[in-house]
Amino acid sequence: MPKPQKHVFICGQSRPPGHPRGSCAAKGGGDVLQAFWKQAQDRNLFDQFAVTSTGCLGPCDTGANVLIYPESVLYIGVTKDDVQSIIDEHLLGNQVIERLKAPESIW
Ligand code: FES
Repeated sequence: MPKPQKHVFICGQSRPPGHPRGSCAAKGGGDVLQAFWKQAQDRNLFDQFAVTSTGCLGPCDTGANVLIYPESVLYIGVTKDDVQSIIDEHLLGNQVIERLKAPESIW
């Protein structure tokens, strides 16, 4: 397996209904994860970046949240419709997507 240049962590944390913190799972985190995997498979991009489902990243109320290393960029409010842009613009194009980037006050 080639060493990936970038690593995408997608919050898949779930919590019981009515929990005060909510969760990324309740905000489409699973759909975001599936969209990343589908694009990576359909476009044979597994040597470009790694995709990992993770637990809570911290700012639950802004989910679904996606963290990308090595840049340490946190994207918030991500939906499955944002995945192609994240792949094309950030993971392949090295351009941070400002409209999705968490403000400094969050992280
Ligand atoms: S549940 Fe996703 S950041 Fe906390």
